[in-house]
Amino acid sequence: MSDFDYDVLVIGAGPGGYVAAIRAAQLGLKTACAEGRETLGGTCLNVGCIPSKAMLHASEYFEAAAGGAMAAMGIKVKPELDLGTMHGQRKDAVKGLTGGIEFLFKKNKIDWLKGYAQFTSKDTVEVAGKSVRAKNIIIATGSSVTPLPGVEVDNDKQIIVDSTGALELAKVPGHMVVIGGGVIGLELGSVWRRLGAKVTVVEYLDQILPGMDGDVRKDANKIFKKQGMEFKLKTKVTKAAVASVKGGGKKAVLTLEPAAGGDAETLEADVVLVSIGRRPNTDGLGLDKAGLALNQRGQIETDHDFSTQVPGIWAIGDVIPGPMLAHKAEDEGIACAENIAGLTGIVNHDVIPSVVYTWPEIAGVGLTEEQAIEKAGGEKGEVKVGKFPMMANSRAKTNHEPDGFVKVIADAKSDRVLGVWCIASVAGTMIAQAAQAMEFGATSEDIAYTCHAHPTHSEAIKEAAMAVTGKPIHI
Ligand code: FAD
Ligand code: NAI
Repeated sequence: MSDFDYDVLVIGAGPGGYVAAIRAAQLGLKTACAEGRETLGGTCLNVGCIPSKAMLHASEYFEAAAGGAMAAMGIKVKPELDLGTMHGQRKDAVKGLTGGIEFLFKKNKIDWLKGYAQFTSKDTVEVAGKSVRAKNIIIATGSSVTPLPGVEVDNDKQIIVDSTGALELAKVPGHMVVIGGGVIGLELGSVWRRLGAKVTVVEYLDQILPGMDGDVRKDANKIFKKQGMEFKLKTKVTKAAVASVKGGGKKAVLTLEPAAGGDAETLEADVVLVSIGRRPNTDGLGLDKAGLALNQRGQIETDHDFSTQVPGIWAIGDVIPGPMLAHKAEDEGIACAENIAGLTGIVNHDVIPSVVYTWPEIAGVGLTEEQAIEKAGGEKGEVKVGKFPMMANSRAKTNHEPDGFVKVIADAKSDRVLGVWCIASVAGTMIAQAAQAMEFGATSEDIAYTCHAHPTHSEAIKEAAMAVTGKPIHI
C-alpha cells in the first residue's frame, strides 16, 4: 500500500482548485481538496464573479426601466426597487452554483477536507487537526483584497467596505465613493449608480482601467461620465474617518490629495468601496515548512507546467503571476492536473481574454496598441490598426446601443492579429471569437473573410478586421 493518502491534494476550491481536482479525478488520480470556506467555488462563486454578475444583471434591468431605455421602445413602466428580492436572487445564484460544485465533487469521488490547510512538510499538510500526505499538492489559495493604509474596511458596518461588503449593502447609498477605477470599482460602482446612488471614483493614475488599450480606457471614461459617474483622477485617498451625522446615522469623511502631492481636500460619502487590487493568499500556509519561497510581489513562481521549485508542489490561479481571472485559474487547473497525470497541459498566457461587465461591456485579448508598438521597438509602422464604431453596426444601432467600438491590432508585415479590443453591449461574448482566431494564429484578413451572421454585433469585429487594410463597408 502507498504511503500517501492521495495522489493529488488541492488546497483551495476556487475556479483554479475545484477544476484541477475534477480533472485530476477524471484522470484516475485519487484526489482531495481542502477548503476552509463553508461552500466550494472560492472567491469567484461566493463573493466575486457570480454574485457581482447577479447584481449587474438585475440592476441593468432596473436602469433600463427607470432610465427611459424601455420607454423609448414603447414599454412604459414605473419600476419600484425591491432590494431584498434583488439580493435574494443573487444569493440563490451563488447557492445553486456552489452546491453544483459539491455535487461534482461527489460525482467524481473527490474528498472535500473541510478546513484551512497548512504545510507541515513538503508532502504533508494539516487540515482541521488531521495530517494528510499527498504525492502531489496543488496550491490554489487565490487572493484577497489589498488593504489601503488609513482606510479600514468594516463590512458589517456597511460604511467602508470591500467588494464583498459592496455586494450586500442593505440600502442604496446616497453617495458612494469608490477608491480605485479598476474592474471591481467600475462594475460595483455601476450597480449602485444604476440603483440610484451618486458615484464618485477616485483613481490614483491619470486614467481608469490600467492595463487596457489606451483608446478603450479613454472611451470607457467618456461613457461612464455620460452615465453620471464622477471621476477624480490622479488623486489618492490618504485617510478615512467615520463621523456621526446630525439627526442620526454615520458617514465616511475621506481625505484626498493629488497623487503628485499638493493640498488635501475632504469628501463625504455614505459608503466607501475600497477596490485598489487584490493580493495572493499565502499567509498561514506554512510555506517555509514546504521549503517554498515567494517572489517580491508575494506570489508563488511556477514553471510553464505549473510546478514550483519544490518537486511535487504545484501552484495555479491568483496565487501565481498573471491576470487574476477565473478562466485563467480554471485553464491552469486543467493543465496542471494533466501535467501531474503525465500528459502535456498547456495554457497560452498570451491569449487570455478579459472582460469588464459594465454597460456597455469592455473586453480585450492579446496586446494593446501601446504594447504592440513597444514590442516592435517603438516602430509605429510595424503595427496596423483597424477600428469600427458600434454606431455603424446595424444590430447595435437598432438596439439603441451606439456606444463603443472594435479595434483589431495586427502585425504590419505578417498581418497576424496581435490583439482585439471592444466596447459593446455584448463585448464579453464577442471577444471569444477573437481569442479563438488568435489561438489559431489568424491574420486580420482571415477574420475579414470569415462570414459573420447578420445582423449581429460580431459583424463589428469583421469590419474592424477589414479596416486594418482600409476596406470596411459600413463606414
Ligand atoms: P479563489 O477563487 O480566491 O479561491 C481560493 C480558495 O482557497 C478560497 O475559497 C479560499 O477560502 C481557499 N483557501 C485559501 N487558503 C486556504 C487554505 N490554507 N486551506 C484551504 N483553503 C484555502 N474573474 C473573472 O474572470 N470574471 C469575473 O467576472 C470576476 N469577477 C470578480 C468580481 C469580484 C468582486 C472579485 C473579488 C473577483 C472577481 N474575479 C473575476 C476574479 C476571480 O474571482 C478570481 O480570479 C478567481 O476566483 C481566482 O481563482 P482561484 O481559484 O485562484 O482562487
Ligand atoms: P484593479 O487592479 O483592477 O484596479 C485597481 C485600481 O485601483 C487601479 O486602477 C489602480 O490604479 C487603483 N489604485 C491603486 N491604489 C490606489 C490608491 N491608493 N488610490 C486610488 N486608486 C488606487 O483591482 P480591483 O478592481 O480591485 O480588482 C482586483 C482583481 O479582481 C483584478 O485584478 C481583476 O482581475 C479581478 N476582477 C475581475 C473582474 C472581471 O474579470 N470582470 C471583475 C472584478 C475583479
